[in-house]
Amino acid sequence: MRVAVVGCGYLGAVHAAAMAEFGHDVIGFDVDERKIAALRAGEPPIFEPGLPELLSAGISSGRLNFSSDVADIAGASLSFLTVGTPQLKDGRAADLSYVDAAITALAGQLRPGDVVVGKSTVPIGTAARLAARLDDLAPGAVLAWNPEFLREGWAVQDSLAPNRLVFGLPPAADRAHLAEAALREVFARPLANDTPLIVTDYATAELVKVSANAFLATKISFINAMAEIAEVTGADVTQLADAIGYDDRIGRRYLGAGVGFGGGCLPKDIRAFRARAEELGRGESVAFLAQVDAINLRRRKRLVAHVIDLLDGTPHGKVVAVLGLAFKPQSDDVRDSPALDIAVRLHGLGAVVRATDPKAIENSRALHPQLDYRESFEDAVTGADALVLVTEWDEYRYLDPDAVGELVAGRNVADGRNSYDPARWRAAGWRYRGLGRP
Ligand code: UGA
Repeated sequence: MRVAVVGCGYLGAVHAAAMAEFGHDVIGFDVDERKIAALRAGEPPIFEPGLPELLSAGISSGRLNFSSDVADIAGASLSFLTVGTPQLKDGRAADLSYVDAAITALAGQLRPGDVVVGKSTVPIGTAARLAARLDDLAPGAVLAWNPEFLREGWAVQDSLAPNRLVFGLPPAADRAHLAEAALREVFARPLANDTPLIVTDYATAELVKVSANAFLATKISFINAMAEIAEVTGADVTQLADAIGYDDRIGRRYLGAGVGFGGGCLPKDIRAFRARAEELGRGESVAFLAQVDAINLRRRKRLVAHVIDLLDGTPHGKVVAVLGLAFKPQSDDVRDSPALDIAVRLHGLGAVVRATDPKAIENSRALHPQLDYRESFEDAVTGADALVLVTEWDEYRYLDPDAVGELVAGRNVADGRNSYDPARWRAAGWRYRGLGRP
């Protein structure tokens, strides 16, 4: 199929390359000319394992092209909408201006019978509103909604082999048939591999996406709430998570207690969901998400308190090595990153923060130039009074406490991801603080 991908950020760049890998003829469009120039040269706008290889394969096959000229979309029978929906600067709701602008730009290129497939995470009701706009701007074009569940760091794998597909179709039967046929064709590869498929309406498709992320955020905050209880009772939340996780109705995944969730999705999605539910008169149904958010943010403060404690109450002038800046390993994304937030808070307390990360220094520096960034781990930790693990990259997870102990000035470690074995670190002479562990 001739496919357009409108918006070449985190989602769009990976999606465009995956569609080319499926054998489609793909044009990726973005208004950002620098991004397009980089993508044309095979350079991803983000660090994502496997993406450079996937982009190169698509570009050299001739099936993957990028353009900042919207006219180049013309002729695509199916256009994916993959622009961002960040949190509004002055509120909790999602900023839909990029989605609206993309629909307007796209509409001029559409022919009757063309299918537009929304993938951006949007408030429930957006697809119906956009479909009505398309009726005005591009009569005969059909809108479907196909939420995306890819995880950063696993985006290539999740795009090539999604664990489920959801097709949200328009209410009119003829349009629904047209959209479903186009979606089945574009996703023929994963469907042939028995990927579960849910065919539904717009509202369900939109709700599937936000509720999945709300559930994951709730699960993480649940275990972090248990960590808070563990802290006042002497219990160990990591053992608790193992024990309850063996119950397969609960499951161990997303029960990693620590500094909590960040990134470009979970935090803003739960806030936008609350805002939308309130507009719909059902604010109370998801009022618990305010607690989920609050628990999550409290864990950052708690880790900072541990660091202050390890520095005997006076962080001012002490050298603190912050290990990790990305919101999670295998990513260079620092949007709403607990790690970067903690580094900034410690800097604000007068600590001499040396922050390091295998991939996220450049993005962190753009947001917080005031921090002292160190490319090398050794450089960051040598002479430090305390180490703070906040992003559990393998480089930091598997440290040898004896070897690192030779480099630091003080053997103090705050483990924001409960990644270390406290007994081993203590045996090596370290003062250890985890979250929700004795
Ligand atoms: C999340 C969802 O997992 C994807 O399914 C979804 O498609 C995506 O949002 C999106 O909406 O685009 P992602 O933002 O890549 O994906 O991040 P996750 O892997 O879910 O991790 C989110 C945060 O939770 C990270 O900061 C991570 O460190 C934290 N986390 C995760 C924990 O604190 N504990 C855990 O046990 C698991």
